Amino acid sequence: MKLLITGGAGFIGANFIHYWMQNYPNDEIVNLDALTYAGNLENLKDLENNPNYKFVKGNICDEKLVDELVKDVDAIVHFAAESHVDRSISDSGDFIRTNISGTHTLLEAARKNGNKRFHHISTDEVFGSLEENDPAFNEDTSYDPRSPYSASKASSDHLVRAYFHTYGLPITISNCSNNYGPYQFPEKLIPLFATNLIEGKKIPVYGKGDNIRDWIHVDDHNRGVDMILKKGKIGETYCLGGNSEKTNLEITHKILELTGKGEEMIEYVADRKGHDKRYAIDFSKAKKELGWEPQISFEDGLKKTIAWYEDSQDWWKKIKNGEYKEYYEKQYKS
Ligand code: NAD
Ligand code: TYD
Repeated sequence: MKLLITGGAGFIGANFIHYWMQNYPNDEIVNLDALTYAGNLENLKDLENNPNYKFVKGNICDEKLVDELVKDVDAIVHFAAESHVDRSISDSGDFIRTNISGTHTLLEAARKNGNKRFHHISTDEVFGSLEENDPAFNEDTSYDPRSPYSASKASSDHLVRAYFHTYGLPITISNCSNNYGPYQFPEKLIPLFATNLIEGKKIPVYGKGDNIRDWIHVDDHNRGVDMILKKGKIGETYCLGGNSEKTNLEITHKILELTGKGEEMIEYVADRKGHDKRYAIDFSKAKKELGWEPQISFEDGLKKTIAWYEDSQDWWKKIKNGEYKEYYEKQYKS
């Protein structure tokens, strides 16, 4: 099988490529990534000389390039996106271009080239925000996105489903909860707090820290995507979650404990605008139809993840001081 992975130089995509190459070393992977601030080829350094892996620097909005690449593969797994809520609040232009127009460009190429198998990676944030006692999101929950990020992802989900109904494009969608693990860009909660604490810097908790997210290890997410690709029903959506709801303060205390730091490192800062209160996922459909459920406990996964950030200071220090971008811009000038 030959796969086109979009956004494979980012956090989840890079972990997916590692997962796939370990489990299916004879498959071929083409990784299309624009190397935005979030894309980092160091995440895939060990695969540089693998003959079954090819990197293409390019934008998913580039119709000609996307068409050429899609022609030559059996399936597309679409991770590429602008992914950070706070950035979407300050400037949403790239979210609209990449997440909506970019997804549309890929769908058109998949349709024009013989209806290629298309898996779309989405988020639980499309469903909106839950109150403490509301039932968890599932595949039947109405869409109610509340940030420019989640609205752009919701829009891309609708387009993907429209291509199934209108053109019979063989699609599946996964809506997953908050991921954590190695190679996550240190702007998201867990890597930001871990790296700040390792550097002896304070950690900014938004509002009272009582917002709730459901955390899943990236390897559990990617195993779910694999199972959907192999066994998922065409046209269907699967919700994937970690069975691990935590308040931001609970996470903060665990990271403080794992890095040996105290409460005085917490800095309570102004709340995020329109901050979604709670996300939670009911993954019983994926369990019943695919036999999928998360296998990595939050305690274990977080411990290993913090240890990875302790051991990978070269990786994130280059990001935090901007060095890696300069280096790759020189190497991959297009
Ligand atoms: P990320 O920001 O770490 O990586 C995104 C990657 O996409 C980067 O490598 C970037 O260079 C690339 N990219 C961005 N715009 C591009 C464009 N126009 N053309 C080509 N490449 C482009 O994101 P992530 O956290 O790995 O998320 C991957 C996917 O998973 C996204 O679709 C996101 O919505 C979804 N998701 C993320 C989470 C999470 O907790 N991180 C949870 C559920 C779903
Ligand atoms: P984040 O990792 O940005 O993921 P998302 O917003 O997509 O869920 O944030 C997770 C939670 O942590 C969210 O409730 C916002 C909060 N948060 C902070 O309190 N401080 C921070 O510096 C960041 C980045 C997030």
